Amino acid sequence: MKKTIPDFEKMKQVGEKITMLTAYDYPSAQFVEEAGVDMILVGDSLGMVVLGYDSTVPVTMEEMLHHTKAARRGAPQTFVVTDMPFMSYATIDLAIMNAGRLVKEGGADAVKLEGGVDIVPIVRTLTHAGIPVVGHIGLTPQTASQLGGFKVQGRDLDSAKQLLKDAQALEQAGAFLLVLEAIPRQVAGQISTELKIPTIGIGAGLDCDGQVLVFHDILGLFKRFKPKFVKQYAELRTNSVQAIQEYHNEVKSGIFPTEHHTFGLSDEVIEKLYGD
Ligand code: KIV
Repeated sequence: MKKTIPDFEKMKQVGEKITMLTAYDYPSAQFVEEAGVDMILVGDSLGMVVLGYDSTVPVTMEEMLHHTKAARRGAPQTFVVTDMPFMSYATIDLAIMNAGRLVKEGGADAVKLEGGVDIVPIVRTLTHAGIPVVGHIGLTPQTASQLGGFKVQGRDLDSAKQLLKDAQALEQAGAFLLVLEAIPRQVAGQISTELKIPTIGIGAGLDCDGQVLVFHDILGLFKRFKPKFVKQYAELRTNSVQAIQEYHNEVKSGIFPTEHHTFGLSDEVIEKLYGD
């Protein structure tokens, strides 16, 4: 049965870890649902792992909508969170319009926004409008260049304190879940203890209330780079290339298709067709 926001609150209260994994299309969402993962994130990481962009910055609303619809069709019984792409929540009006589209047209159950205290008015407005919001602080890929690149955040006293302030402000504004990316485990642990809402870590240690990773990373499908926090559980890229090579070689050498893969005609029809 599809989990709901109160289920995630309850999981935090009883200490049951929450699992989240990205999925971007019909088959990947089917795999994730079949594996029993608690939540799907249609992350704007799709810009890199599916669309081949250099970063998440070029990802558009239309792309997020297209992939959310496909993931929703693949996982009708899983809670789906969709990332709002860069600039789609630059103003309150844009945020309301675009978040509304992701929920109404895309079928998302909630939207995720990157940012801390600065985006509080947007989080509050969306929540009041009935759109569930997930926050995302720490390393925020949409603004990575402002952070000096893809670096661990919150390593000194001031930035650790700022992360705690951001987390508290997002909770007060109505966010029901908070993603913590690439921050020291002690900071993530403290945020997780101080907040009532669950935290989902990615490169934030074991003390978060749950974990999220990228589908293509855990299955070994994306090779351009591999952050320290990724654990790879399979090697599907190598296996896929090998299988495709085998197909290619078999066609070239006439091994495929065999009789088993071929349709025939009855002798009677052949006779009538070619008899004379
Ligand atoms: O886009 C994404 O996949 C994300 C996760 C890395 C949290 O935001």
